[in-house]
Amino acid sequence: MKKILATALTGLTLMAGSVLAADGKAVFQSKGCTACHQPQVDTVGPALKKIAKAYDGKKEELIKFLKGEAKPKVWPDKFPMMQPQLNTTKALSKGDLEALADYILSNK
Ligand code: HEC
Repeated sequence: MKKILATALTGLTLMAGSVLAADGKAVFQSKGCTACHQPQVDTVGPALKKIAKAYDGKKEELIKFLKGEAKPKVWPDKFPMMQPQLNTTKALSKGDLEALADYILSNK
């Protein structure tokens, strides 16, 4: 029994470790988000610092947007350009989404 418990705990610790290890910046870059978003300046899309400001303290809301479950609030009139990207973000694992949101919000 003890051994089973220990094995289960080790498994959990490893899982938590890999979630924590998800690198939001790497996700952002590898998914092509940088084509339209820069940290400090508006380009095709709004600067990450603008998004971070709009979602300050609202990480859950940002994750909802990235899952396609919430309306845009930064530049709603330009949403048609962002909308197809949600197919990419919707497919991310929970850990990657969390890391991605943390990375976006860290741009202040
Ligand atoms: C083709 C250009 C383009 C790409 C690629 C792109 N975006 Fe966007 N993004 C935009 C535009 C334009 C807006 C402004 C419309 C809006 O506010 O939804 C935007 C807005 C956003 C917002 C603000 C949402 C809000 O509430 O208004 C987030 C968050 C975001 N993008 C994240 C991402 C992430 C993460 C990726 C990579 C998976 C990505 N974007 C890739 C163009 C792009």
